[in-house]
Amino acid sequence: MEKKFKRTLITTALPYANGPVHIGHLAGVYVPADIYARYLRLRGEDVVMVGGSDEHGVPITLRARKEGITPQEVVDRYHAIIKDSLKELGVSFDIYSRTTSDLHHETASEFFKHLYDKGEFTVKTSMQPYDEAGGEFLADRYVVGTCPRCGKDGAYGDQCEACGSSLNVTDLINPRSALTGEPVKMRETTHWYLPLDKWEPALREWILEGHKEWKTNVYGQCKSWLDAGLQPRAVSRDLTWGVPVPVEGAEGKVLYVWFDAPIGYISNTKELLPDTWERYWKDPESRIVNFIGKDNIVFHCIVFPAMLMAYGDNFQLPDNVPANEFLNLEGDKISTSRNWAVWLHEYLADFPGKQDVLRYVLTANAPETKDNDFTWADFQARNNNELVAILGNFVNRAVVLTHKYFGGTLPAAGPLQPVDEQLIADVAATRDALTAALDTFHFREALKQAMEIARLGNRYLQETEPWKLAKTDMERVKTILNTAIQLCGNLAVAFEPFLPFMSGKLCRMLGLENLSWNEIGRMDLIPAGAQIGQAELLFDKIEDDAIAAQLRRLQDTKKANELAAWRPEPQAPEVDFETFEKCDMRVGTIIECEKVPKADKLLRFLIDDGMEKRTIVSGIAKFYKPEDLVGRQVCFIANLAPRKIKGIVSQGMLLSAVNSDGSLVLLAPSAPATPGAKIG
Ligand code: MF3
Ligand code: ZN
Repeated sequence: MEKKFKRTLITTALPYANGPVHIGHLAGVYVPADIYARYLRLRGEDVVMVGGSDEHGVPITLRARKEGITPQEVVDRYHAIIKDSLKELGVSFDIYSRTTSDLHHETASEFFKHLYDKGEFTVKTSMQPYDEAGGEFLADRYVVGTCPRCGKDGAYGDQCEACGSSLNVTDLINPRSALTGEPVKMRETTHWYLPLDKWEPALREWILEGHKEWKTNVYGQCKSWLDAGLQPRAVSRDLTWGVPVPVEGAEGKVLYVWFDAPIGYISNTKELLPDTWERYWKDPESRIVNFIGKDNIVFHCIVFPAMLMAYGDNFQLPDNVPANEFLNLEGDKISTSRNWAVWLHEYLADFPGKQDVLRYVLTANAPETKDNDFTWADFQARNNNELVAILGNFVNRAVVLTHKYFGGTLPAAGPLQPVDEQLIADVAATRDALTAALDTFHFREALKQAMEIARLGNRYLQETEPWKLAKTDMERVKTILNTAIQLCGNLAVAFEPFLPFMSGKLCRMLGLENLSWNEIGRMDLIPAGAQIGQAELLFDKIEDDAIAAQLRRLQDTKKANELAAWRPEPQAPEVDFETFEKCDMRVGTIIECEKVPKADKLLRFLIDDGMEKRTIVSGIAKFYKPEDLVGRQVCFIANLAPRKIKGIVSQGMLLSAVNSDGSLVLLAPSAPATPGAKIG
């Protein structure tokens, strides 16, 4: 921190309450924000961390319609799940509120009204999709039609899920209302716009000149938006779910969700600190830091700052916006709608007591500068090879040895030797690197440095070998174990922001209270004579079967998604009866069946076709065992011109069906049929 601030307001992107939170939200926003907040608190800073659920927006109303419940019921359900699960993970919000609260509605409404009264908006009419039968305007998501790119029906007004193209409502062929199925008409409507172009020079100056220290991914995205030129943005929508537009003649209109949601940061601070909230927002000696994911950069660095500048009244702009890139899951993009995620509430149920493991893995792998991948194999490896083998192992050795030689009473240290002094110097250097990394939002690096302290501890015990000295030089053992236990105390402090549950356990073992960041590097945290608790297991091994169960669940999701996305192939062009009749299909009985050597897809069949025996080669080896097929009946095309496949002449073709997942099943008569019977 170059400038000295009096206080810090940490905000975390408000998750949409249309689903639970997943590891992508955690890695991108909540875990780094919590690390930072805990770190500042340990430094004794005045810090407030606010969060809440984003409860407006079209996806919530869509979900409500789909489930036949009200939007309020949707957000009540997910707000509770999100709030409880973040709490259980140890995310230390000072307040976690919601945008359907009265206070938020009032605050957002007042914000709009103030800009309106100041003449900060422009008004524009435009054509929007309208459902005449339903008597309402339709959000883009509520319009369906045929995709102009891939020709599939069922594309949405903003996107085709079949081919992934992003679309405009006007691109759709045959646009219909998703609500009533009626054709969509375009109708004129009026909305309020925030003229971002007016604020462009101020934004350029503030970000491009004033905040060169921002993360390059954030700075770069801002620069490209600014260089492309800013356009006025609509801040209202024709919807019923949201904060009503507080002006005459605006019935049926609400604030655009991206207008009201960031104001939620203000409402939340107000709700927490009714009397002093303005200090965090309006005092230039206060500092605001927004933790977000990369898809939110434009709203936090351009749109919301423009809103705050337009409002005036000393509202401060964020000092930093340490946005992260995305976390993928096992190589695929995380998606709420495709259920491709590790959901926090499910993780907490499947791995009780292992909050710190998830926090650790998500930080070690945080998508700070580029997209990153979460894999269950990495999760297991980091737990077993790092948390158990390095951190847990060191603490366990130090505590167990102290019990073994001194009955758990911490011995006093004698004169230091070079190896002790080296350790102390190394810890101090590591602490400095750790602090520098935290100050600059490099949490992966910071975690590495914290782990380095545990590595130093293991190396120290390895070099000094107190278990050997115990036979000859008990005075020396006292110094070594005192040092090792002090190092455990250092770990309790250094890891508190990252692994608060582990840190709490360690504090109880060591009798430490009221931690302070300054204590890292000190070797007098625990007084000689203190009684050290029994070694408690800090981490335990995660076995293969727990990981396999998670992978199986993802496999099932993938299968379910494939099935949901599968559409039968379009019907082939019509044929007349004479053409059909040319194709001679028969029933036969399998007499022999074996794998074709050097061809992993092929089976060779010998078929009794009622007249003689014929050979047919078929590409279904992946789906059947040859010995299971002998004696069974099949359907085949008898008059297909013979073809040579892998040197074998195939006299016909077995009929099989191709399933959604690409697997094949052989067709057979539903009851025994005479070999050679004609099919028609
Ligand atoms: N709900 C938004 C999202 O999940 C984030 C809103 S952040 C706020 O992308 F600034 F608007 F609050
Ligand atoms: Zn398409």
